[in-house]
Amino acid sequence: MAILPLSLALAPICTWLLLASLQTSICAVSSRIPTTLEGPFKPVTAPLDNSLRRNAVDLPETDPRVQRTISSFEPEQVSVSLSAKYDSVWISWITGEYQIGDNISPLDPASVASVVYYAIFMSGRQHRATGSSLVYSQIYPFQGLQNYTSGIIHHVRLRGLKPNTLYYYQCGDPSIAMSGVYYFRTMPISGPDSYPARIAVVGDLGLTYNTSSTVDHLLANHPDLVLLIGDVTYADLYLTNGTGADCFACAFPGTPIHESYQPRWDYWGRFMQPLVSRVPIMVVEGDHDIEEQAENRTYEAYSSRFTFPSRESGSSSKLYYSFDAGGVHFVMLGAYIGYDESSDQYRWLEKDLASVDRDVTPWLVATWHPPWYSTYTAHYREAECMRVAMEDLLYNYRVDIVFNGHVHAYERSNRVYNYTLDQCGPVHIVVGDGGNRENMAITHADEWGNCPEPDTSRDPYTGGFCASNFTSGPAAGKFCWDRQPDYSAYRDSSFGHGILEVKNATHALWSWHRNQDLYRIAGDIVYLVRQPELCPIRRYNSLG
Ligand SMILES: *[C@@H]1O[C@H](CO)[C@@H](O)[C@H](O)[C@H]1NC(C)=O
Ligand SMILES: *[C@@H]1O[C@H](CO)[C@@H](O)[C@H](O)[C@H]1NC(C)=O
Ligand SMILES: *[C@@H]1O[C@H](CO)[C@@H](O)[C@H](O)[C@H]1NC(C)=O
Ligand SMILES: *[C@@H]1O[C@H](CO)[C@@H](O)[C@H](O)[C@H]1NC(C)=O
Ligand SMILES: *[C@@H]1O[C@H](CO)[C@@H](O)[C@H](O)[C@H]1NC(C)=O
Ligand SMILES: *[C@@H]1O[C@H](CO)[C@@H](O)[C@H](O)[C@H]1NC(C)=O
Ligand SMILES: *[C@@H]1O[C@H](CO)[C@@H](O)[C@H](O)[C@H]1NC(C)=O
Ligand SMILES: [Fe+2]
Repeated sequence: MAILPLSLALAPICTWLLLASLQTSICAVSSRIPTTLEGPFKPVTAPLDNSLRRNAVDLPETDPRVQRTISSFEPEQVSVSLSAKYDSVWISWITGEYQIGDNISPLDPASVASVVYYAIFMSGRQHRATGSSLVYSQIYPFQGLQNYTSGIIHHVRLRGLKPNTLYYYQCGDPSIAMSGVYYFRTMPISGPDSYPARIAVVGDLGLTYNTSSTVDHLLANHPDLVLLIGDVTYADLYLTNGTGADCFACAFPGTPIHESYQPRWDYWGRFMQPLVSRVPIMVVEGDHDIEEQAENRTYEAYSSRFTFPSRESGSSSKLYYSFDAGGVHFVMLGAYIGYDESSDQYRWLEKDLASVDRDVTPWLVATWHPPWYSTYTAHYREAECMRVAMEDLLYNYRVDIVFNGHVHAYERSNRVYNYTLDQCGPVHIVVGDGGNRENMAITHADEWGNCPEPDTSRDPYTGGFCASNFTSGPAAGKFCWDRQPDYSAYRDSSFGHGILEVKNATHALWSWHRNQDLYRIAGDIVYLVRQPELCPIRRYNSLG
């Protein structure tokens, strides 16, 4: 059976089902959805459901969803991602088998062509696009460790596409093997009345049975686009011999380098194909994607397997970039590379924000991995140096929403700036609850005995330490509040994903969906409302 175009299905009942939620206090009280205009909301902590405390267990290599089901050089791990504008997407796939062990010899990327045939569904002439291919290796020059070299990774950019249009495509090497037929829909044109219907937002996915539940729930919400806010596969919880652990810190501290088991990236690519071969996925890097190897090389798997519209958005790095999806401009930022005023990233961001025309893309959404406003004990105020460096820039350009991961739980903030409630500040939303193997975050820094020592907030990768005690407000003189902070609107230690439905230039419906609830039920739901007259953009210049 052909895969049904997503957008033909189910749009009207979604909203009704969201309203029918019995699970959430917000929705149970009335079916009217709150808006941020009624905020700041009184802080709420969802009760912890202890029946859900079993470990998240990784899918084993024997699971049919992660196994190689094709032969020789047929395409596998097929995915779509966006370029900077609606008129272009990237198609990616892998051919040939990876090797792991001693005596690996990298495949020749030139031995398999990178070709995509594509056309508008049910009409139109078939086009042909060609691209490039590469292999990467993960090398550990230490006794007893195994090296890895990937299959051939292909990336092909399609251009000249029409907005909001269903395309079919086949990828591969016509002289060897082409893939089956897949479909994707382009983003709508950018404009104040033009938005993708549903954008799924998920973080810290990994590849466990809980991840599989998250992805099932996400599919049931029929997204047009998926954002993955870092920490993709958690291959770095494994030794090169395939033995795994349940957390990064306890993952074999005695080894000469922090190892990873690269086949888990291939498992992840196979597992995700049913979703990402038809719904574009946009990714920003997390700490688990760094994966250090020989010669201090990092992010090899991450930056080889995905494509990013960096060049298209004027960035010189795969680790930060921007793109438009209808009337939403997304900036995807790197938290583990330079971000202060003298950095390339900061200068790029300043330029990118200055060039956004809010009459064309009224919504400005920023994402990066570790949150600035999270109240869980885990990673509490760890990204404070980045906040100090970049918050003014994002605030003055009136970023509407910030999405983060890293903390394995859900939290939505009130509008906040510099730890102060501010009706022009962004709403910060943490969705690091994708279901990975590490523990869920369940303790809060404001609970007795759970406030971490300030110097533990040092970021392990940037090395920075900027978190000082609060100087004003109810927590003045202290590192933590003694109750849920006013800037925290809602927090819940459950696995799930979020859906952003931008309605027009002022209203976006945000809903968060827990894995333990029925499909399409919302565990948290709120209209995020922009007030451009009240909060005009302030051109901000780091040079004064
Ligand atoms: C994770 O999945 C397991 C079943 O594999 C389930 O028992 C557990 O409750 C799930 N955890 C959460 C937090 O949903
Ligand atoms: C992995 O590659 C490095 C660099 O080429 C080499 O020194 C090392 O011996 C290799 N390891 C194995 C197990 O082949
Ligand atoms: C992998 O290596 C670790 C550490 O040397 C060892 O404890 C484990 O038994 C090995 N596992 C396999 C499957 O060889
Ligand atoms: C790797 O990084 C370490 C510490 O930053 C440095 O001492 C070393 O010289 C680097 N090695 C290479 C090959 O660049
Ligand atoms: C942010 O708050 C801190 C502490 O209250 C204050 O010292 C700092 O000046 C504020 N920054 C800005 C840009 O207002
Ligand atoms: C910061 O606050 C912590 C408690 O939250 C306290 O132990 C510490 O002494 C404070 N440090 C300073 C410099 O005031
Ligand atoms: C924007 O959408 C919201 C929610 O659907 C609606 O209530 C509001 O009237 C719309 N505003 C305009 C200007 O159309
Ligand atoms: Fe993380």
